[in-house]
Amino acid sequence: SQFALNFLDPSFIPLTHALNEELQGKSSKWKFNRTAFYQQRYYDYVGYLHKYVFSINNNLKSLLPDASPIQNKHYNVCAVVGNSGILTGSHCGPEIDSADFIFRCNFAPTESYYKDVGRKTNLTTFNPSILERYYNNLLTIQDRNNFFLNLKKLEGAILWIPVFTYHIHKTVNLLITTLYHIIFLNSRNLLHLYWKTKNLSLKRLSTGILMYTLASAMCEEIHLYGFWPFGWDPNTGKELPYHYYDKKGIKFTTKWQETHELPSEFKLLYKMHGEGVTKLSLSHCS
Ligand code: CTP
Repeated sequence: SQFALNFLDPSFIPLTHALNEELQGKSSKWKFNRTAFYQQRYYDYVGYLHKYVFSINNNLKSLLPDASPIQNKHYNVCAVVGNSGILTGSHCGPEIDSADFIFRCNFAPTESYYKDVGRKTNLTTFNPSILERYYNNLLTIQDRNNFFLNLKKLEGAILWIPVFTYHIHKTVNLLITTLYHIIFLNSRNLLHLYWKTKNLSLKRLSTGILMYTLASAMCEEIHLYGFWPFGWDPNTGKELPYHYYDKKGIKFTTKWQETHELPSEFKLLYKMHGEGVTKLSLSHCS
């Protein structure tokens, strides 16, 4: 692993003894520090909510659930799964699935990758730009069927849709409201305030770190998987794609990161791992 560590740019990754151990797969050494976790959790920030009040029309109102599907929901261990290529070959699927509640990002596929990422999803973010990126804007019947099949696999899960920042496609509204609990939120502003207090002041927080924040209000303990925004495997030094679901041959590209500063986020999450606040998996699961 010394070899792997040489790949890490010390300017943004703290090369501490703890990371070294984690990279060598001795993650069992990680010890949860409940006190530190409680001190950092997101609870206190609900106080800011009154600052963000929006007017909505009846049409949108009819799509909103009467009560938030996560109101008063508490879980013991939660898994937050980012989409990094580091998950490929990790065999973390069973460990992830053993969590009491599983957060995923951006409607990421699981079926063909279940050994590494698990099958269960309790909440996934759904940015309508996914339709453009992966489903040809639902233009043809085949695009719609394809999308619908993938949506159906998530039945019962909560979809997190940023409704005030994007226009939602009408067809999607129809499909999802018949099947799912939905959270519509424009919570990015709010969460920015929270991370600012931890000296993370970014242009735009990534979906992954937003999910961590949400999890910290709902869960007693959080385990993170698939957070590694770099193009090489820290254990072997081999090249990695950006996403675990990228087709073979697709090279790591920072184009996905243009709107974010993932290395800074990683640095913070890694620091929190060292403090026992959250467990960050960077190696194979046993
Ligand atoms: N992620 C990561 N390292 C990667 C890829 C993803 O740490 N190599 C984390 C990031 O927190 C990211 C989340 O996993 O937000 C989900 O990944 P992805 O769907 O690829 O998100 P992006 O499209 O990069 O960005 P956005 O945050 O805007 O959704």
